[in-house]
Amino acid sequence: MFQISKLRNAVVLIAAVIIPIIIVYAEAEQDSGNRIACFPLMEIDNDQTLDSAFCQSKGCIYDDAGENVKCYLPLDGSKSYGYQHNSTVNAGDGTYIEHQLQRRQDTPSLYGGDYEKVKFKVTFYGDKMLRFTFYQDGSSIENNQPPVGLNLPIPTAPSDTSDYIVKISDSIEGGPFDFVIRRRSTDQIILDTKLGGLTIAKQFLMISFALPSEHLYGIGENTHDSFAHNMNYKMHPIFARDQPPGDGEMNLYGSHPFYMVSEDDGSSHGVFLFNSHAIDVTTLPYPGLTYRTIGGGLDFFVFLGPKPEDVVKQYTGVIGRTMMPAYWSLGFQISRYGYTGTNDIREVVERTHNAGIPQDVQYADIDHMDNQADFTLGPTFLDLPEFVKEQAVGGLRFIPILDPAINTEKTNIDYPTHTNAMLAGAYITWFNDTLQPNSDCSAFPDDCQPLDNVMLGYVWPDGRTAFPDFFKNETQVWWKKEMKTFHDLLPYDGIWIDMNEPAAFDTNKEKPFNYPPDKHPWNLICPVNEWDDPPYITLSASRSDTNRLSDKTICMVGRQGQNDEHLHYAVHNLYGWSQTKPTYEGLQAATGKRGVVITRSTFPSSGKHAGHWLGDNTSRWKDLHSSIIGSLEFNLFGIPYIGADICGFFVNSTEQLCERWMELGAFYPFARNHNSLGTDPQDPAIWPSVASASRTALNIRYRLLPYLYTLFYHSHTSGSTVVRPLYHEYPTDVRAKSIDGQFFWGPALLISPVLTENTTQLGAYLPADTWYDYYTGKKEETSGTDVTWNTPLDKINLHVRGGYILPQQLEALNTKLSRQNNFTMIVALNSDKAAAGDLFWDDGETIDTISTKQYHYIRFSYTETIVNGVAIEGVLNMQVQVNTSSSNGLEYLKMDSALIYGLEKSPKSINAGIFDFADTKVANLFNLARPMTSNWEVVLTF
Ligand SMILES: *[C@@H]1O[C@H](CO)[C@@H](O)[C@H](O)[C@H]1NC(C)=O
Ligand SMILES: *[C@@H]1O[C@H](CO)[C@@H](O)[C@H](O)[C@H]1NC(C)=O
Ligand SMILES: *[C@@H]1O[C@H](CO)[C@@H](O)[C@H](O)[C@H]1NC(C)=O
Ligand SMILES: *[C@@H]1O[C@H](CO)[C@@H](O)[C@H](O)[C@H]1NC(C)=O
Ligand SMILES: *[C@@H]1O[C@H](CO)[C@@H](O)[C@H](O)[C@H]1NC(C)=O
Repeated sequence: MFQISKLRNAVVLIAAVIIPIIIVYAEAEQDSGNRIACFPLMEIDNDQTLDSAFCQSKGCIYDDAGENVKCYLPLDGSKSYGYQHNSTVNAGDGTYIEHQLQRRQDTPSLYGGDYEKVKFKVTFYGDKMLRFTFYQDGSSIENNQPPVGLNLPIPTAPSDTSDYIVKISDSIEGGPFDFVIRRRSTDQIILDTKLGGLTIAKQFLMISFALPSEHLYGIGENTHDSFAHNMNYKMHPIFARDQPPGDGEMNLYGSHPFYMVSEDDGSSHGVFLFNSHAIDVTTLPYPGLTYRTIGGGLDFFVFLGPKPEDVVKQYTGVIGRTMMPAYWSLGFQISRYGYTGTNDIREVVERTHNAGIPQDVQYADIDHMDNQADFTLGPTFLDLPEFVKEQAVGGLRFIPILDPAINTEKTNIDYPTHTNAMLAGAYITWFNDTLQPNSDCSAFPDDCQPLDNVMLGYVWPDGRTAFPDFFKNETQVWWKKEMKTFHDLLPYDGIWIDMNEPAAFDTNKEKPFNYPPDKHPWNLICPVNEWDDPPYITLSASRSDTNRLSDKTICMVGRQGQNDEHLHYAVHNLYGWSQTKPTYEGLQAATGKRGVVITRSTFPSSGKHAGHWLGDNTSRWKDLHSSIIGSLEFNLFGIPYIGADICGFFVNSTEQLCERWMELGAFYPFARNHNSLGTDPQDPAIWPSVASASRTALNIRYRLLPYLYTLFYHSHTSGSTVVRPLYHEYPTDVRAKSIDGQFFWGPALLISPVLTENTTQLGAYLPADTWYDYYTGKKEETSGTDVTWNTPLDKINLHVRGGYILPQQLEALNTKLSRQNNFTMIVALNSDKAAAGDLFWDDGETIDTISTKQYHYIRFSYTETIVNGVAIEGVLNMQVQVNTSSSNGLEYLKMDSALIYGLEKSPKSINAGIFDFADTKVANLFNLARPMTSNWEVVLTF
């Protein structure tokens, strides 16, 4: 027997040359954290029928003492699952290679429906990206892929210096087919499928990867206790579900089968599985990963980075870059579920204003509707439009909620939203008429299905609801028209779309929890069929009350698509995604402005049209921490406009928690305080201590908005993250790889919040670099080590990284006012006594100012002239790079002051304004009065 590693190392590596190798596995390898469970759901359920006899009957190995996995796949060459190489079908023109594989004989099927013949295709997109796909022979990659457009470059053969090398085994000696992707520069294995178990069946697909390190990030949307994954056989279900984040790796609202790995040398790569079916991803201590999914193809994209930010740029280059949020949407926002009328909202806005706390946006949840029906106003909210118009004058923006489910039984008022939807044929229907229940109207007239074959469920409105199919053009047209009509009544500025997994209450149970008690019990009950009850039900269904995929949602046999081409089963994870673009377009059509949409259910590319909040969290300290993890993950997923409900949604918040949360929330890209029904108000003016800490933190946010907005510009144009983990800036710092209690805004601002109760001494980490305290400008004495900072209740630690210039603007009570204030800047010098930064500026709300060139882009720098080791002159410089508009307000504003951190000695003079110099080595330059639309220099003479 050969040692695998030796054999592989012996092979000469040549770009994109596919080298057949023989791999023979030893049984002994099976204990090194690489057990692939044959029946993982039975293991999790501790199902007693998973005994040795059953396990062995499926050709698996049984180990009663197995701690995490008892019944697992054999790796032994002759008996293992998977496929064998049959032939190389086409070596292509160097842009792809295709192989014919044949299912290995003599292995039982785990879940049935295995395809005997399978194609394997690798497509090359130049030197930094490739794609590999397994699909049923006779089908195609396109046949299996979700109906989500990707921005794919034209395939091109990799060069001799490509970042990757692919090697494919041809399993000549009867071993299973596998392949390896290596990073050329380090010879590091990026991904290796040798762990076995490759399965391509009609409703069960499985593949495992050995990974180069245990520093694994991403995969969502789940509740994760840490940003770097726990590799000890943790199973993460991916299936859009109306599931509040809580404890354990539950599947939440969105689907993001994307991960990143940080390799030992600091290089990173990312892998995206392009599949919209329910997926389970299991970590392996080996380290590795197993994917299990129930349809579509195994269609993976690999992004080679090598910098962590490069990986996100490459990924978002394919799925689409984020929308540019309106400037005002970076301001502070207040919401709650449980306002009893417009008066409640007025009180919140007034007390926030009176407390001197900035606010840009006020929300209304479903309370504002007439019995929770979209596009209506309830009796105590009839004056909401007046309030919104009156507040708009001062600059307050308004965002109402919309749910996708439409009440089909509205009787108290004429409800054209539904009748228009019926006329448009807008709703999801049953796959075929025979599946439609309750068609006998004689027994229980209440239960009668009145709407042809529309699938009905029950959500918030007081009547059965239908679910619009946003894949249909007619549905999109109808939705935008309803949005426009509603805007004529209530002039909103943005839209919040919720419940779009889609949520349906208590599906398959006797009746929804909120069903009218006076009516005969009714509910959506999904007929038993191959789609609602697939052979492998996934962890999502297995954990649910009813053990069905349709738990909390509609039936998988729903029919969708312009030409009825989709089963809900295949596009369930795209429901929220499909609603998002028409909502964004509807918003822009109705308002004529850029606006912003936030959506609960997301899929790769949702960021093009919306941001996201982390859902119905709980007012717990634990949720304060997980909000950072979730925000970092969504930045990897290309949805950087992200934040959690500040102070927590469920249960009453406490004063101290809310104070700490307002401080942290002031640094979410999307900063909104939101609260649930039946809880005490928690908007920041409620407690004087919280009001005071909020004022301080939000004033800093508002001052830094020009920097934050510029980060969004970069995210929008080049795909970088807005908030990012420490390892993205310090990829070779092993300590940084596991830090998730601190994070960055862009490359330059380090945020270190207190996340536990009664803590005022914060243990934190400072990567080796030059750091300045944001509040004092004082240089930190040590770095590259653990630190402890005194952090009283009203403080959040902020540090500016040496080498960067942060543009700021004096704060105000909202962005309409702050945008009229002069600029200021922080110049934080690095060890070379230099710094640089930039500013993107436009009017903040015109649609697409970038491609229409209605913006300014400005660079700042500071450098010193050194003669004989002595600084004689420092020059602070502003250069307008792009100046395409004269009407965005910038021409009236000045750069009026600058703080230079880390200046070795006081200047003798400057050529503009006045200055002082403190023993903290901070120079304060003021009365500069430099223009913002033309170049200038401020010269410091030492
Ligand atoms: C194997 O390849 C040969 C030709 O290369 C083809 O005739 C045969 O059908 C293939 N078998 C399978 C099982 O794919
Ligand atoms: C309707 O769809 C179900 C589920 O796919 C299927 O079992 C049934 O045969 C179909 N009925 C007809 C009449 O096509
Ligand atoms: C639906 O809209 C798309 C995009 O606007 C268009 O290409 C397509 O032809 C439309 N289909 C129908 C049936 O109207
Ligand atoms: C919140 O506290 C109030 C009393 O201040 C109480 O009436 C209410 O039930 C509490 N809500 C929850 C969800 O615990
Ligand atoms: C924080 O202090 C309060 C008041 O002393 C106490 O009731 C609470 O248990 C403390 N919490 C923790 C986590 O120590």
